[in-house]
Amino acid sequence: MHKNLFIITLIVSLLLITNCTSLKPKNSSVVSSPDGKVVVEFIIQDGKAYYKVLYEQDIIINYSKLGFEFKNAEPLDNSFVIKKTSVTHFDEVWEPVCGSDSLVKNTFNELIVMLEQNTHPKRKLNIIFRAYDDGIGFRYILPDQPDLRDFEIINEETQFNFMTNSTAWWIPADFDSYEHLYNQTLLSEIAAVNTPITMKTDKGLYLSVHEADLTDYPGMTLKAVDNEPFSFECDLVPWPDSVKVKASTPHRSPWRTIQIATRPGQLIESHLIENLNDPCQWEDVSWIKPMKYMGIWWGMHIGTETWGQGPYHGATTENARRYIDFAAEHGISGLLIEGWNTGWESWGQEDAFNFKTAYDDFDLPKVARYAKEKGIELIGHHETGGQVGNYEKNLTAAFELYQQLGINAVKTGYAGTIRPEGQHHHGQWMVNHYRNVVKKAAEYKIMVDVHEPIKPTGIRRTYPNMVTREGVQGMEFNAWSKGNPPEHTTIIPFTRMLAGPIDYTPGIFDVECKRHLEMRKNAKLRNNFNRRVHTTLAKQLALYVIIYSPMQMAADFPENYAGQPAFKFIQDVPVNWDESKVLDAEIGDFVIIARRNNEDWFVGAITDEKQRALEIPLSFLKSDKKYKVTLYSDGPNTDWETNPTDVNIASYLVDNQDILPANLPKGGGLALQITPANADELEKLKAFE
Ligand code: NOJ
Ligand code: CA
Repeated sequence: MHKNLFIITLIVSLLLITNCTSLKPKNSSVVSSPDGKVVVEFIIQDGKAYYKVLYEQDIIINYSKLGFEFKNAEPLDNSFVIKKTSVTHFDEVWEPVCGSDSLVKNTFNELIVMLEQNTHPKRKLNIIFRAYDDGIGFRYILPDQPDLRDFEIINEETQFNFMTNSTAWWIPADFDSYEHLYNQTLLSEIAAVNTPITMKTDKGLYLSVHEADLTDYPGMTLKAVDNEPFSFECDLVPWPDSVKVKASTPHRSPWRTIQIATRPGQLIESHLIENLNDPCQWEDVSWIKPMKYMGIWWGMHIGTETWGQGPYHGATTENARRYIDFAAEHGISGLLIEGWNTGWESWGQEDAFNFKTAYDDFDLPKVARYAKEKGIELIGHHETGGQVGNYEKNLTAAFELYQQLGINAVKTGYAGTIRPEGQHHHGQWMVNHYRNVVKKAAEYKIMVDVHEPIKPTGIRRTYPNMVTREGVQGMEFNAWSKGNPPEHTTIIPFTRMLAGPIDYTPGIFDVECKRHLEMRKNAKLRNNFNRRVHTTLAKQLALYVIIYSPMQMAADFPENYAGQPAFKFIQDVPVNWDESKVLDAEIGDFVIIARRNNEDWFVGAITDEKQRALEIPLSFLKSDKKYKVTLYSDGPNTDWETNPTDVNIASYLVDNQDILPANLPKGGGLALQITPANADELEKLKAFE
């Protein structure tokens, strides 16, 4: 156990063991959460296995099917008898390497059901259910057994039979991308979705279905069951030959998870997904460091620079020095440089990308030396273009190069169709590839930020160098498509972010992309452009608190930050937190989150396309202290469409009795920095009125 990982593990009690083989087997079993509100029931009926979930005695998920179908074997979904069940209680507190809270409570009751088919050859299947106060998880274990060794699953039969036609926020099932805008519809209007899918029931409960510890298995999508209202079944992402899982026993599936909350913010505060992953076993994690970073990046998206070499090449030695100087002067510790290596001109070809060779106008060793001198961590870039074979062949050499140069973070990319043909980004083969990259990177003490990834499922607990990933329709979409409407960022905290950190790349100050328009006037432009970010500047600041990511980008150009007082917020905002609280929220409307780092608090409030008058009670502050609050708010007459960039910055003295107004204009936001007041501030600052 490494020294940063402080684990108090206490198996408190073996509560009961029932149905030993000698006894007459019962056909059902129950486990409830430590607070007793969440109950999972397991039942065998006519030899088939079902589970059911209740919250405060109301059924949330009605009897739903469990089991598997195989390619060359009989289904493992019938003739079941319960051989043994056990219920245990577990309680621990663990410390994430990077986290939204510095201590995570992991408390649950676990039911293990051991099943056997009563027909020849009596194959076995175990199912583990965990009931937490904030939801449930269950996973299948296929034990090692003579009549189930190598297997090919063609269908995981897990179902989720919801009780009512809830309102849901979802993106369509897509085996290759999570880069979609979210829909808000009734469950009855859904055909198939990627997870997490989040919903609000007619009783005001918030539920979210996802998975945890996705290892050696394909990603799960959900599809509506024909003629059964509000019922969904697991639809795993296939291999090219349509098989879903290829493995051998013993094997375990990911956890199927259902978060349960009475207010939407509890979904964000929950650690259910991480808790369902194995603890980190590494001794040394000192090389994993959260960071803010800038990038030679936005220019390629808005079309003023190119990845490949040419008159507008972004990754030149000179440009890199300019970014390094700016980042060093402003306390931003990382720099991503895209377009440094050859291959961009041959996009789509099998061996296009060379992960060791820099373009002529980019002197990689020199830039790496200069970055070190200035205390800047370079973030390497490996775009694969989907040519995974090429990447795997060169992975070791690519990481060796970064290690030699002292580069300890890499952003990977899988834009485009996966090769070999027929493989999907979210299939088992790619899940295993993504994991191999994380493990290989760890051998070289390299942190990983994945774009076009497999969705997060909490594996950062086990492999904390898996720091952040995209897997969302991020900032880049504003540059080359209709973009993300203002409500997008009020939905993703309750959907995609429940799965894990998001590399959304916030911080665009020139929200109308004037630099691009200027170049267009000079007729130097590569392509037509009338895109912009649908935001106010203050909202961009608030996103640093709303969207959790231990690697968080300041995505705009240095010249758009230079001389801007509001950039101070980006300089000061932490990327690692001791505590996070969602103060108020309605999914798709607005969100207010407060996060603490030591004694300092940061608050972000954002709205969708509607103007809102919200309140921020500061009751989370210590009662015996005065604090300095600095407000970064939208200026008067500011809104995202007509006047997006006016920001007011003002500081006051506050205490925990104060309630600050958050008057958010259309598409606007508010960012607060709250620090214990020093003697000078106590004397000079006005109280907030
Ligand atoms: C898509 C990624 O999301 C983006 O950040 C990156 O710049 C391009 N691919 C090129 O790798
Ligand atoms: Ca992308």
